Amino acid sequence: MKDVQVKDIKNHLGEEIRLNGWVKNIRSSGKLLFIIFRDGTGWLQAVAFKPALGEDKFEAAKTLTLESSVRITGTPKKHPKQEDVYEVDVTGVEIVQLTEDYPIGNKEHGPDFLLTNRHLWLRSSKQWANLRVRHTVYFAMCEYLNNNDFIRFDSPILTPNACEGTTTLFELDYFDQGKAYLSQSGQLYLEPAIMSLGKVYDFGPVFRAEKSKTRKHLTEFWMLDAEGAYVEHKENMQIQEGMIRHVINTVIAKCPKELEILERDAEQLKKADAPFKILTHREAVDLCRSKGSEMGYGDDFATSDEELITEGSDVPIFIEKWPKEIKAFYMKRDPENPDLVLGSDLLAPEGFGEIIGGSQREDSYDLLLERMNDEKMDIEAYQWYLDMRKYGSVPHSGFGVGLERLTQWMTGTRHIREVIPFPRMIYRIYP
Ligand code: 4AD
Ligand code: MG
Repeated sequence: MKDVQVKDIKNHLGEEIRLNGWVKNIRSSGKLLFIIFRDGTGWLQAVAFKPALGEDKFEAAKTLTLESSVRITGTPKKHPKQEDVYEVDVTGVEIVQLTEDYPIGNKEHGPDFLLTNRHLWLRSSKQWANLRVRHTVYFAMCEYLNNNDFIRFDSPILTPNACEGTTTLFELDYFDQGKAYLSQSGQLYLEPAIMSLGKVYDFGPVFRAEKSKTRKHLTEFWMLDAEGAYVEHKENMQIQEGMIRHVINTVIAKCPKELEILERDAEQLKKADAPFKILTHREAVDLCRSKGSEMGYGDDFATSDEELITEGSDVPIFIEKWPKEIKAFYMKRDPENPDLVLGSDLLAPEGFGEIIGGSQREDSYDLLLERMNDEKMDIEAYQWYLDMRKYGSVPHSGFGVGLERLTQWMTGTRHIREVIPFPRMIYRIYP
């Protein structure tokens, strides 16, 4: 007998096939038993009819419980009323394991309970949908970069120095070499890579000892960094826009069912597939202040300010040209104003906040050294990084996307912890 997955069921109408999976739900009514069956690729209703199955087999099937593992043989057919829905007439049920007392029921559970049971919660429809959209977002970002001549390059995770400041570093002892740190971003390693390969990207877990308990912060998350030689600030933003619009279109095309389960309005997402807006940091501050914020021209945006900026916009908004004091040491000084740097943050609409941080990089040895000295950085530890400004320095730019932030927006998920398989946060490391 042929093993078939739920996603392919429509190609096997009328054949006797076998399905391998789990019981998502079960109910009986007289001579009928309705098993909602799932196998990872989707779910369907399998209907056992007592006279067709026989008394013994029917009674055995009736002992199935929520989340029992099961192999079902049967014949797929079209649902009598619903379009694109299929059912299976059961001819046999093989119980692989009977589950007792599955802890997650169909009632409401609190977030703490669900997070403690994350290993099981993953099976629920919304989590299934979130993780499939996450997969699609990842796939689409790589596809876009692969099609645009970027080469995948893997940055190390164990590093001797910080990329994004020292306040959020996870530290460990590295044999007799002293301290090592978990990477906050692969960016610094992509800069040498472009001098060999031209355009590159990395994608991997990064770590930040974030002390904040917010809906947008994880201590371990996945970042895609991209970097290009001879790419300047404007082009850097164009690449980001092209990639994000490709992600939107891919998610809409590949995940209609997932978006429906998540009650995510695909029409609203589609509206973001239009030219992105650009504001300078100063213009964005003016906008916030005109809406009642008390922030100053040298400040970073609070979550509430980000919401004021994107309020009423269907498309993401770049904020460019930041005061240098509030941005990383590696950002290039704006040739038109030495107090600013050519950095850009991309804010997602609908209040989802920053999804990308990027910039043109300082390519002058002297200016970079001056900035690093101003920040009292350990120059010796970063000599390898400074070397890029010594041996064939070129204008170059790049950016880093937080996979979970982008997935959070695509799925419309309120809390970032639901769009990563096993979230790590200041107050949680189990399971
Ligand atoms: O803006 P960030 O800090 O930029 C960098 O790390 C650069 N080195 C990237 C580069 O230029 N290659 O982080 C990039 C993105 C943010 O825009 C956000 O989407 C995400 O990473 N991010 C987080 N996501 C979840 N939890 C956190 N604690 C995050 N911190 C940053
Ligand atoms: Mg940032």
